This record gives sequence, structure tokens and C-alpha cells, in this order.
Amino acid sequence: MKKLIIAVMLVAFAVTVAYAADVVTFETSKGNVTFDHKTHGEKLGCEACHQGTPAKIAIDKSAAHGGACKDCHKTNNGPTKCNGCHVK
Ligand code: HEC
Ligand code: HEC
Ligand code: HEC
Repeated sequence: MKKLIIAVMLVAFAVTVAYAADVVTFETSKGNVTFDHKTHGEKLGCEACHQGTPAKIAIDKSAAHGGACKDCHKTNNGPTKCNGCHVK
């Protein structure tokens, strides 16, 4: 019985986190930006970026250079220089 409960919990856990990629690569003409989703989540907590149940966040150039990425880097010592994110 105990084993069954653990199995059910593992499945539930897998379902909640299954769609969160560990690393997301944004391909741009300035060079690729590698976003380590897993490390960001572990260091900052999901709520630093997600409200409520985590779901897809749309990233475009203005979001990335503003509220979705760079603004937090400015106040939390993340990379703010172009080549801190864009790698050719
Ligand atoms: C630094 C900001 C940030 C943190 C912290 C963060 N996420 Fe995300 N998350 C994102 C972004 C940006 C996307 C969209 C990535 C993309 O474009 O594919 C995303 C996407 C997701 C998705 C949807 C994936 C998809 O393709 O539909 C899930 C689920 C998710 N995150 C869960 C989590 C969980 C759980 C945590 C905490 C362990 C977490 N996130 C922490 C920024 C963050
Ligand atoms: C809520 C704050 C926050 C947000 C939002 C955030 N970051 Fe970061 N990021 C950090 C911090 C803090 C670091 C420095 C981590 C360290 O060096 O320990 C960092 C580091 C990085 C690095 C350097 C490599 C590394 O892993 O150390 C890259 C690249 C990066 N972030 C890309 C992104 C991108 C792309 C986004 C948006 C999709 C984003 N970040 C959103 C806080 C954030
Ligand atoms: C915090 C990380 C970060 C920093 C710092 C940053 N960028 Fe970006 N930038 C991104 C991300 C992520 C995207 C991709 C958004 C997308 O997929 O549409 C992007 C998109 C772009 C694009 C659009 C390219 C295309 O192919 O559509 C250009 C141009 C660009 N950045 C130039 C710059 C320049 C110039 C700087 C320095 C002044 C800079 N970026 C600094 C994360 C960053």
C-alpha cells in the first residue's frame, strides 16, 4: 500500500513539472541566448517569474531586454551586457 502511494505521488510530481525544460535556447541574429531555467528556478524560486501555476511565458526581444530577464539582472547581479546573454 505504501509503495502504491509513493508511485502515485511520483506520477503526480512528474505531471506538474514535466513540461518545464531545464534549458531553453533562444536563437537570435546576435547569437544564441541560453536560459538555464532549472538553475534560475532553484536559485530564485518559481514565483520570481511565475504567478500561480507555472506556465509558458512569452519571450520576445522587448520582454527579454526588460521585465522578463534584464530588469532582474540589473538588481540581482545577473548579466546585463550583450555578450553576457548572447553568445556567438
Ligand atoms: C527566471 C525566471 C523563471 C524562473 C525562476 C522559473 N521559470 Fe519557468 N519559465 C520561465 C520562462 C521565461 C519560460 C518560457 C520559456 C520558453 O520560452 O520556452 C518558462 C516556462 C515554464 C513552463 C512552461 C513550459 C512550456 O514550454 O510550456 C513551466 C511549466 C515552468 N516554466 C515551470 C517553472 C517552475 C516549476 C519553476 C520553479 C522550479 C520555474 N518555472 C522557475 C521563467 C522562469
Ligand atoms: C528574477 C530574476 C531573474 C530573471 C527574471 C532572469 N534572471 Fe538570469 N540570472 C539571474 C541571476 C541572479 C543570475 C546570476 C546567477 C549567478 O551567477 O549565480 C542570472 C544569470 C543568468 C545568465 C548567466 C549564466 C548563468 O546561468 O549564470 C544568463 C545567460 C541568464 N541569467 C539569462 C536569463 C534570461 C535569458 C532570462 C529571461 C528569459 C533571465 N535570465 C531571467 C536572475 C534572473
Ligand atoms: C538578459 C539577457 C540579454 C541581454 C543582456 C541582452 N539580450 Fe538581446 N535578447 C535576449 C533574448 C532572450 C532575446 C531573444 C528573444 C526572442 O527569442 O525573441 C534577445 C533578442 C535580441 C535581438 C533580436 C534578434 C533576433 O534575431 O530577433 C537583438 C538584435 C538583441 N537581442 C540585441 C541585444 C544587444 C545589442 C544587447 C546589449 C545592448 C542585448 N541584446 C542584451 C536576451 C538578452
